[in-house]
Amino acid sequence: MTTEENKEIRPVRVWDLPVRLFHWLLFLSLTGSWVTAEAGLLYMDWHMWLGYTALSLVLFRLLWGIWGSRPARFSSFLRGPKTILNYSRTLGQRSSPRHPGHNPLGGVMVVVLLLLVALQGGSGLFASDDIFTEGPLYHRVSGATSDLLTTVHHLNFNLLLAAVGLHVAAVLFYLLYKRQNLIKSMFTGNMPLTKQQEPATAPQAPLWRALLLLGLSAGAITWLVN
Ligand code: HEM
Ligand code: HEM
Repeated sequence: MTTEENKEIRPVRVWDLPVRLFHWLLFLSLTGSWVTAEAGLLYMDWHMWLGYTALSLVLFRLLWGIWGSRPARFSSFLRGPKTILNYSRTLGQRSSPRHPGHNPLGGVMVVVLLLLVALQGGSGLFASDDIFTEGPLYHRVSGATSDLLTTVHHLNFNLLLAAVGLHVAAVLFYLLYKRQNLIKSMFTGNMPLTKQQEPATAPQAPLWRALLLLGLSAGAITWLVN
C-alpha cells in the first residue's frame, strides 16, 4: 500500500446501532425523568418508569462494554493516567488525528456519566417525598437511610447536570474548534478514518447479542423493582 492510500479518508462504521440507540434513548429518558420530576406529583409514575429505563440502559451499556463491538468495549477506550495526561496536552492543537472511538479523555467522561446515571437511578429506588411517592425499595431500608439516599438523589442530579453540560461543551469544542463532527457520528455511526485506523473498528458484534443483553438488563431491573 502506498503512503497516499494510507492517508485516504473514508467513512467507516464505528458506533454500532446498539451504542447509538443507547445514547439517544438515554438522553430522552433522562430528559423525561427531569421534566416529570419538575412537573410534580401527578407525573411521578412516569418519573419512575423513565428512571427504570435509564437504569436498564446503563446496565445494558456495561454489558455491551464487555461483549459489544470493539469501539464500544471499555478495553478499547479506558486508558491509564499517563495516556490521558499526554492526550490532554494536545487538546489545544487544531488538527489532531481522529480516534476511531472515544479519545482517552472522552473515555473518562463515558465512565463518569454512566456512574452518575446509575447513582441517580439507584438512589431514586430508595427515595421518598414523604407524601405520596416512594421508590420501590424504600421499605427495604431505615428512614434515615432513605432520607440520606433522597438527599443523594437531589444532590447527584446537580452533578449529573454539570457532567452533561461539560460533555456537550466538549463535543461542541470538537465541532467548532477542531472541526470534528462527533455528533453526526453518534447519529450515522460512521467516522471519516484512514485505512490504517480501520482495524480498530472491527469486529462489530451481532445484533442478536445486543437484544439478548438488553433483555437481560431490562429483566434484571424489572426483577429488582418488583
Ligand atoms: C435516572 C434518572 C432520574 C433522574 C434524572 C431523576 C431526577 C429527579 C429529580 C431532579 C428530582 C427532584 C424533584 C424536585 O424535588 O424538584 C427527583 C425526585 C424524585 N425521584 Fe427521581 N430521578 C431519576 C430516577 C428515579 C427513579 C428510578 C426513582 C424511583 C423509582 C426516582 C424517584 C424519585 C422520588 C421518589 C423523588 C421525590 C423525592 C423528593 O421529592 O424529595 N427517581 N428525581
Ligand atoms: C442526558 C444527556 C446525555 C448523556 C447522559 C450522555 C451520555 C453519553 C455517553 C454515556 C456516551 C458514551 C457513548 C457510548 O460509548 O456508549 C456519550 C457519547 C457521546 N455523546 Fe452524549 N450524552 C448526553 C447528551 C448528549 C447530547 C445532547 C449530545 C449532542 C450535542 C451528545 C453527543 C455525544 C457524542 C457526540 C458522543 C460521542 C463522543 C465521542 O466521539 O467520543 N450527548 N454520551
